[in-house]
Amino acid sequence: MSKTAKLILESGEYEFPVIEGTEGEKAIDISKLRSDTGYITLDNGYGNTGSCTSDVTFLNGEKGILKYRGIPIEQLAEKSNFIEVSYLLINGKLPNEGELKSFEEKIKSAKELPEGIHNIIKQFPRDAHPMGVMAAATAALSGFYPELLDQDLSDEKKERIIPQLLGQMKAMATAFYRHSREKGFVKKNASLDYCSDFINMMFNEGEDNLEQAVDPAVAQALDVLLILHADHEQNCSASSVRMIGSSKANLFATISGGIDALWGPLHGGANQAVIEMLDAINKDGGGYKKFLDKAKDKDDPFRLMGFGHRVYKNFDPRAKIIKKACDTVLEKLGIDDPVLDIAKGLEAEALKDPYFVERKLYPNVDFYSGIIYRALGIPTNMFTVMFVLGRLPGWIAQWKEMIESPAMKICRPRQIFTGETKGEYIELKKR
Ligand code: SDX
Repeated sequence: MSKTAKLILESGEYEFPVIEGTEGEKAIDISKLRSDTGYITLDNGYGNTGSCTSDVTFLNGEKGILKYRGIPIEQLAEKSNFIEVSYLLINGKLPNEGELKSFEEKIKSAKELPEGIHNIIKQFPRDAHPMGVMAAATAALSGFYPELLDQDLSDEKKERIIPQLLGQMKAMATAFYRHSREKGFVKKNASLDYCSDFINMMFNEGEDNLEQAVDPAVAQALDVLLILHADHEQNCSASSVRMIGSSKANLFATISGGIDALWGPLHGGANQAVIEMLDAINKDGGGYKKFLDKAKDKDDPFRLMGFGHRVYKNFDPRAKIIKKACDTVLEKLGIDDPVLDIAKGLEAEALKDPYFVERKLYPNVDFYSGIIYRALGIPTNMFTVMFVLGRLPGWIAQWKEMIESPAMKICRPRQIFTGETKGEYIELKKR
């Protein structure tokens, strides 16, 4: 197989290197395309464009495969936990006992949220969307840690800022939830694991006995959900993190940008939109046909939220695991949520419908996740915040891989100009 690709233009024939990844994917390296030919490429939405090489996450959309650092997501969801998976993504290997303990300790001992951040959170209207609070509070952290704003962070400072962010963003999420419910903040409790502590910081009603406040089944379900959301190669928000980080902006600003990108309903915001859609179907008597027809109607902006994916043209492996977990968690918690049957019915109808089959539209990670979040007591407007907490180690891993690469360059795409070519200035009174 030739290791080059030929391009024939009116000015001649050009060859460009072909590179092959460890999973057999192939790319034409066009780094010299413009300097050699004067041409650039154009790829709306970057569906055919690789922005980088990466060792972090691999997914195969045709086969529905997802691996973190080479380990299948199914194994990690069954056998690992969120903190261990975070270490794996960020450091490139599974930690030994000592490394895991130290990483966990660093997250637990991460500085409490500065009082100033609590004050910023308390300035928000109680009904503000929590994603705006998370983005603002994350960027605001830069004001409290000037020593972590160096454009080339030392390893020692990376070892500090990374666990600190993992701990503090959990605290931000719970702090705003408590503020929105006019309750006092609950401090983190170092005797609890990450997910149990999250649940305690969210819902503790002054119980001294922590075992009462935290149901292990809830903590376990949350842990699996966070693992499944931890990374997903060059998705919109991870690419935004790489774009921002490539200017050597500090990590607080970089992650804040990732939160903003994830907020959109076409991306992480879909998990909230799905549950709102399922509730609407339930309220409407549970008929799917009207909603499926709306989703297929080109003149109707409505889309079947939680369906479709830029890369997965088969089942999203995460959706399969979450769908199964829905049954287990709701049964364990003794919850009967009618939207679960509606979701299953909608999925079955859509997967029989030629519109969805022809376009290879399957349920994605967001289709079932909200049903579990609701069963765990998480309010709907915080579903995307849960995606943030899950995706944070993935964003950090992508950022770290990029800034530690000797090949790192500032991201600066080109364009094809299609505007006015002979414009002239016209005095205001003559316009
Ligand atoms: C996430 O990239 C990642 O990895 C993201 C993510 C991650 O972990 O980071 O996996 C998380 O963001 C999952 C996706 C969550 N979003 C949604 O569930 C929103 C609903 N889905 C869509 O809007 C859509 O499927 C996207 C945004 C997910 C993907 O859009 P694409 O790849 O740009 O595809 P497209 O819009 O070009 O659609 C192709 C065709 C179009 O029809 P035609 O013009 O060919 O006739 O499929 C149709 C679309 O209209 N289509 C849908 C649809 N999704 C695509 N029609 C109805 N309902 C849908 N959900």
